[in-house]
Amino acid sequence: MSPAPVTAEEIRDVNTRYHDGAAAGYDAKWGIDFGEIGRTQVLGKLRKALGGTLGHYGRSLEVGAGTGSFSLNLSQAGGVGEPTCTDMAPGMVATLERNAQRLGIDVTARVADAGALPFPDASFDLVLGHAVLHHLPDLDQACREFRRVLRPGGVAVFAGEPSRHGDRIASVPKRAAARVAPAWRRMLGARPAPEGHSDGGAENHKLESMVDVHAFDPGALARGPKAAGFTDVRVRGEELLANWFGWANRGLEATADPDTVPLAWKLYAYHGYIGLQHVDRLLLEPRLPPAIFYNLMVTARA
Ligand SMILES: C[S@@+](CC[C@H](N)C(=O)[O-])C[C@H]1O[C@@H](n2cnc3c(N)ncnc32)[C@H](O)[C@@H]1O
Repeated sequence: MSPAPVTAEEIRDVNTRYHDGAAAGYDAKWGIDFGEIGRTQVLGKLRKALGGTLGHYGRSLEVGAGTGSFSLNLSQAGGVGEPTCTDMAPGMVATLERNAQRLGIDVTARVADAGALPFPDASFDLVLGHAVLHHLPDLDQACREFRRVLRPGGVAVFAGEPSRHGDRIASVPKRAAARVAPAWRRMLGARPAPEGHSDGGAENHKLESMVDVHAFDPGALARGPKAAGFTDVRVRGEELLANWFGWANRGLEATADPDTVPLAWKLYAYHGYIGLQHVDRLLLEPRLPPAIFYNLMVTARA
């Protein structure tokens, strides 16, 4: 096994290699959708992060955009006029460009590190990202870049960042799923999948455990934007039960050939997740502190 990355260069390198290898199967692995379902999920998360309203943005920049789930869905919903997407992994940018072409969306896509954005000052009205900050070796530098490329008054919004507490509790369903996976496959008549099949193969799969370099408490997530001079910095938490359920099912499904997993199971997993998201949103999120939840989201104004 390779040693864990230590320097900023090593962290960027392992992230680029892993995400490059995972890009082709990424949408299937995470159930990323560019239709009604995907739009509802993305708009719901952005609305929640922004405190209820979304608005319309002229020029947006997504950082660590992966295959484009946030920007392409936002663009289809008319939430942004001119989307620009960046990611450090060329394979992700290539997949994003193919997705945009298929959907007929005009997007500018560039390979770029979040800490060195290739854009002039004040180029964007919105800077956004999903599940990217926890991969960055130097968060303060990245936040300075987000602020630099935003016009004064522009908005930054980042969602899907693992909380320290959530990261710890997610390890329980993940471990349980690994233990019961053989019995689960037998029960459903599903065939085992080759190791790492959803991550671009066994070798690439080994890198997955090295790419996450942060889990945040709300204060730590707010520190970077505040130090970069952002105002109105606000951290919210989302999803607790939905994440437990989701991690357990994903852990099971990762061990099976997807073509042999019965549709009834897929429907149960999907509807169960959506149902628990509602329970989280209606009952838990208004009452419990952000640190309890699995996902943290941060918004700030330049
Ligand atoms: C967990 S994926 C999320 C992708 C996408 N935002 C989504 O939610 O589907 C994290 C993404 O961040 C990218 N990434 C990691 N380190 C980065 C860096 N230093 N600069 C830019 N992108 C980076 C990875 O290549 C990967 O595409």
